[in-house]
Amino acid sequence: MKLLVTGGAGFLGSHLCERLLGDGHDVLCVDNFFTGDKRNIAHLVGNPYFELQRHDVTFPLYVEVEQIYNLACPASPVHYQFDPVQTTKTSVHGAINMLGLAKRLKARILQASTSEVYGDPEVHPQTEDYWGRVNPIGIRSCYDEGKRCAETLFFDYHRQHGVDIKVMRIFNTYGPRMHPNDGRVVSNFIVQALRGEDISIYGSGQQTRSFCYVDDLIEGFVRMMNSEAGFTGPVNMGNPVEFTMLELAEKVLSLTGSKSGIIHKPLPNDDPRQRQPDITIARERLGWTPKVSLEDGLVETIAYFRRTLAG
Ligand SMILES: NC(=O)c1ccc[n+]([C@@H]2O[C@H](COP(=O)([O-])OP(=O)(O)OC[C@H]3O[C@@H](n4cnc5c(N)ncnc54)[C@H](O)[C@@H]3O)[C@@H](O)[C@H]2O)c1
Repeated sequence: MKLLVTGGAGFLGSHLCERLLGDGHDVLCVDNFFTGDKRNIAHLVGNPYFELQRHDVTFPLYVEVEQIYNLACPASPVHYQFDPVQTTKTSVHGAINMLGLAKRLKARILQASTSEVYGDPEVHPQTEDYWGRVNPIGIRSCYDEGKRCAETLFFDYHRQHGVDIKVMRIFNTYGPRMHPNDGRVVSNFIVQALRGEDISIYGSGQQTRSFCYVDDLIEGFVRMMNSEAGFTGPVNMGNPVEFTMLELAEKVLSLTGSKSGIIHKPLPNDDPRQRQPDITIARERLGWTPKVSLEDGLVETIAYFRRTLAG
C-alpha cells in the first residue's frame, strides 16, 4: 500500500516509517523539519519505496495515498511553546488539511492524539470516556487544546463526511531518537546522567508517569490503523506501569553507572501530578499490550544517547 506519514522525520514518525517499509509498504514521509531531523531517516533515503517531501501541514497537500498517519506536531513543551500559535495551527489546520485529503482520496486516516487531552485529570487511571480537565488559556493550551480540537475535527469529518478515522491517545513514549534537549523527563535524566550533571527533578519527585517504549507504540499504530472498519477509537496507548520521577531517576543512575546527584527544582505551571492510561480498549479491541519493560527500554535508549553524545 502507499502510505503517508506526516511528521515522519521526528522521533515516533521515523520509527513508524521504518516499520511500514519493513512491512513492504511504499512510504511517503512529509515533514517541515521543525523538530524532525534528517539523520532520523537518513538510513531510509535510497530505499526505492521511501520518499521524503519537505512540507508544512498547515498548507494543503496534494498526493495520492491509501492511508494517512498524522503525526506532525511538536510534542515536547520546549518545542511546542517556542511558537505556540504555530503549534495550534499545526494541530488544527494540519488536521483540516489531512482530513480534506483523506476525504478526497477515501483514505483511512489515523490521528496521533495525546494523553494531554485529559489535562490534569481527576480520574485515575484515565479511561477514554473521561472528558479531561484542561486549562484553555495556559502555556500548555496551544498543544492540549490544539489536539482536542483536532480530535473534534476527526469526529466531525467522520460523522459529516463519512471519513474513515482512527484516533489514538498516546501516553509518554520514549526510546532512541528522542531529542536530547527537549525537556522530556526520560531524555533529560539520561543526558544529565551521561554528562555527569545533577539530575533535576521538578517538585518533590513523587508525581508519577508511565513510560511506553517506542517499539510497543509503533506496534500499536499499525494495529490501530488496520483495525476493523467502524472502530474509530479514541483509544489509549501507553504503558500502565507507573513510576515516580524519583524512581525513574534512580533507575537511570544505576543503568548508566553515573555518579550524578539529584537536585529539586520548582514545578512548572499546569504540570499534571499523575498520569496513567487505562488500556482495556486497546487490549480487548486490538489485542495490544506493551511488552518492553522500563529497564530493557532504558538500556536501548541509554545506548543511543551514549552514541549521540559521543559523536
Ligand atoms: N512522544 C510522545 O511521548 C508522544 C505522546 C503523545 C503524543 N505524541 C504525538 O505523536 C506525534 C509525534 O511525536 P514525536 O514525539 O515523534 O515528536 P517530534 O517532535 O519528534 O515529531 C514531530 C514531527 O512533526 C514535524 N512537524 C512539526 N510541525 C510540522 C508541520 N507544521 N508540518 C510538518 N511537519 C511538522 C516535526 O518536524 C517532527 O519531525 C505528535 O503528534 C505528538 O503530539 C507523542
